[in-house]
Amino acid sequence: MTNPKKQLIINAFAMQAPGHLNPGLFRFPGDQGSEYASIKHWISLAKKLEAAKFHAIFFADVLGGYDVYKGPANLDPTIPAAAQFPINDPLYSISALAAATESISFGVTASTTYDSPYALARRFGTVDHLSGGRVGWNIVTSYLDSAARNFGLDTQIEHDERYAIAHEYLDVVYKLWEGSWRDDAVRPPGEKDSGYADPKAVRQINHVGKHFRVPGPAIIAPSPQRTPFLLQAGTSTAGKAFAAKHAEAVFLNGHSPDLIRPSVDSIRAQAAELGRDPRDIKIIGGALVIVADTDEKAQAKFDELRSYGDREGALALFGGWSGYDLSKYADDQDFRFVEQPAIRSMVNHWASTVPGSDGQKKWDKRAIAEYLILGGNGPKIIGSVETVANELERWVEVADIDGFNFSYATLPGTFDDIIELLLPELKQRGLVWDDYAVPGGTFRENVYGQKGRNRLPDSHPGAQYFWRKGEEVPPYATTQG
Ligand SMILES: Cc1cc2nc3c(=O)[nH]c(=O)nc-3n(C[C@H](O)[C@H](O)[C@H](O)COP(=O)(O)O)c2cc1C
Repeated sequence: MTNPKKQLIINAFAMQAPGHLNPGLFRFPGDQGSEYASIKHWISLAKKLEAAKFHAIFFADVLGGYDVYKGPANLDPTIPAAAQFPINDPLYSISALAAATESISFGVTASTTYDSPYALARRFGTVDHLSGGRVGWNIVTSYLDSAARNFGLDTQIEHDERYAIAHEYLDVVYKLWEGSWRDDAVRPPGEKDSGYADPKAVRQINHVGKHFRVPGPAIIAPSPQRTPFLLQAGTSTAGKAFAAKHAEAVFLNGHSPDLIRPSVDSIRAQAAELGRDPRDIKIIGGALVIVADTDEKAQAKFDELRSYGDREGALALFGGWSGYDLSKYADDQDFRFVEQPAIRSMVNHWASTVPGSDGQKKWDKRAIAEYLILGGNGPKIIGSVETVANELERWVEVADIDGFNFSYATLPGTFDDIIELLLPELKQRGLVWDDYAVPGGTFRENVYGQKGRNRLPDSHPGAQYFWRKGEEVPPYATTQG
């Protein structure tokens, strides 16, 4: 008897920059980070990942430089390391990647803090059309002061207020995508004599809220998924509440599966309280995997890759993520005992949870840089095929997650190793699919493994704005004041 195992969602976690979670690795022989501005480079990667049946490429994105370290407003340590700088807007590449592929999907990060909902609804709707429904939106509220300054603010909007804005933002885009064009508004080819679309089936949304005033209608017609597949990554209390309400996939980072399990349970429980099916929320763990024939070879590969890392770039990334400038401290400062409580608690957390750090004598600047230089603050799973596969299985079981976003140390080397060594083993263990559930299908169809499941489910808050065929106005419009 076989015990069917959960089939995992496997994504590649990438960024359209010379370096993502690997500052300095563009110097590694064969690394293609420097090709980040070439569409041919991304097409070739997308085709390779599609041949290996990855669900999606998940593109992270930021809107400013990491300029806190040795700052304020100093990019000198960031620029030589190419620490997420320069960085191109990933959305522009998606149509080309979709044209070169059939089934792989694309998650694209975009911020609710600096972008207008009307413009974002148009851009993602356009790409959903052009990709045949293979685009997802990774909803972020952003975290860099440098972005705030470049968008005309003195400093960032307060953290929970950013989430309050994001909730209203989502209401606006749901109304535009789901509730401003009736499903049958655009007339089929045989009925075009009556006009391209029915004017009675396109209406204003008249959204007037605390943060946005958007009369609508959407300037784009309904695309295959209407609302693109919704991804989210935020781990604060406000972030988890936001995920429970809106996200269809949540990206969580943690050093061990038992550490992220409470977040997984909390998100699923909050979703259930909101009337959603908690299993509709797919939880994806981030991980850097370095795999080789033996544990020793994998560790040697990791050590070699790490030797190309840029330590200043790693500290610049830390500065952007945390808001703290470690250059203000002495080189021999052990941050487990520093006065600044936020840094102290972060570093003590690492000291007690990062595997293999028990014996570490000191958590000084150098140790922090060494730790963050590959894979950022996410888990690093290093070992033979068997070691890595066992560890991933343990993650799935202990954390109750549904899949992984694999980051890279070198591009495409890390993915080549995963494809050639790891995936055959995962396939043998029944943990990954043989083929897309719906070849040529939408992002949502392939995540849920259900042909025809292109739209948000009825239990999702965006579904209250659906305007279905046969309805004179969408139901939400009759209940609105
Ligand atoms: C694993 C992970 C990946 C993230 N990727 C991005 C990103 O690409 N761009 C971005 O602006 N924010 C990113 N974030 C930040 C969050 O989406 C969120 O806006 C930020 O963490 C603040 O929310 P929080 O305090 O709830 O975590 C990421 C967060 C996590 C945990």
